[in-house]
Amino acid sequence: MNISVIGCGYVGTTTALMFCELGYQVVAVEKDSKKLAMLQQGKLPFHEPGIDSLLIKHLHRGSLVFTGDIEEGIAHSKIIYITVGTPSLPDGSSDLSFIEEVSRQIGAAQNDYKAVVIKSTVPLGTVDKVREWIGKAQKRPLPVDLVVNPEFLREGSALYDTMHPDRIVIGSDNPEAAETVKQLFHSMSCPIIVTDCNTAQLIKYTANAFLATKISFINEIGRVCDAYGANIEEVASGVGLDHRIGPHFLRAGIGWGGSCFPKDIAALINMGNNNGINLQIVQSAQQVNQDQIGYFIDRLEGELHGLNNKTVSIYGISFKPETDDIRESPSLKVIAEVQRRGGTVAAYDPMVFDKHPELKLPGVRVARNMEDAWKGSDCFFLITEWDQFSKIDWGQVMQEMRTPLVLDGRNVLDARKLRSLGFRYYGIGRKTGIIHE
Ligand code: UGA
Repeated sequence: MNISVIGCGYVGTTTALMFCELGYQVVAVEKDSKKLAMLQQGKLPFHEPGIDSLLIKHLHRGSLVFTGDIEEGIAHSKIIYITVGTPSLPDGSSDLSFIEEVSRQIGAAQNDYKAVVIKSTVPLGTVDKVREWIGKAQKRPLPVDLVVNPEFLREGSALYDTMHPDRIVIGSDNPEAAETVKQLFHSMSCPIIVTDCNTAQLIKYTANAFLATKISFINEIGRVCDAYGANIEEVASGVGLDHRIGPHFLRAGIGWGGSCFPKDIAALINMGNNNGINLQIVQSAQQVNQDQIGYFIDRLEGELHGLNNKTVSIYGISFKPETDDIRESPSLKVIAEVQRRGGTVAAYDPMVFDKHPELKLPGVRVARNMEDAWKGSDCFFLITEWDQFSKIDWGQVMQEMRTPLVLDGRNVLDARKLRSLGFRYYGIGRKTGIIHE
């Protein structure tokens, strides 16, 4: 069976490789010539653990071919996956211009039946638009089925999540088309939910909104912990043991970022607003997340008695470890807020600056290594929990910082050790407790 995948970001590339692993012949289409050249040479244009070796394996086997020619991609298969981006517009709605462009190209190049599968996260109702865009571009009327197959992978563990999904969701208004797509996954053992398009899309939005709300919820409880000297990790593990709640996504910290949660939550709120539905819980989750940056920076400002003439060292620029993705990264918001309040910033990230030499952060001193960032600094501010930050020689840090202040935006450092070394250490909700302190 042949499959085509249009759009080779981390979702498209991972999806293409997953289908190769499942035994299909895949043509992947990428319009950015620089990215395309890299992929054709077996090089990833983004960082994602484990993907590199699979890419080389399937290029060598010939099970995966990259092309810039969308017509070749469309001619190759009856099943065409759309995996292009749907970024946020200023009002929170999704920019569907890439989806529209690809839909029109599919219609224009179509010469026989196609099942078009939308994997990109798109607002409810988009399927009808895609059908219309394809139909209008067709040279003569040809049959097409629309299917929705949302993705649930996380950056940094994209390959594992794709090969070991909790569930697969397939939506279509045509049961036969849904069945064709379902059969692609016949060798996978997870539950497969088959439903209509809007329901499938809403499963995706609801999952992301629920996970983000869970994090905002525990972050709010973290503030209560700070006020009363309770320990947030013990609270989280205490409630997480309740099977109805579960232990995941209860790590308190500086909040969520990335290319998915902020965009999908904004889109969900926007979809509600368009229909007179005020999604209060989701809006509050968004607000708590925005406020969390200020919560940490108020602490910073208080501890340093103002930020004028103070240097803050930011550790981690990507929105989470094991990725070079900086979209909606909390670090960028922290940097802007520290600068707005008069402080200067030094920043270190083990990957982002190497992968993105074009990245400009005005006024920020980019440190060459971890040590370079803390020298003479007034605050060691950890924002992304890269593994190497857990192996720091804190004795050396104590010697070389100007002010022994540590803010831990991910509650990952050893609070007891740092305090015993003489640091003023703050995470969130980590004043007391016996597990981590
Ligand atoms: C998220 C979802 O987890 C995936 O299921 C979904 O497929 C994806 O969005 C998407 O829609 O494409 P991702 O954004 O890659 O995946 O990363 P997550 O691991 O979910 O982390 C998101 C943010 O939440 C990060 O900034 C992370 O640091 C933060 N987070 C996560 C917390 O602050 N606390 C937690 O307990 C967990």
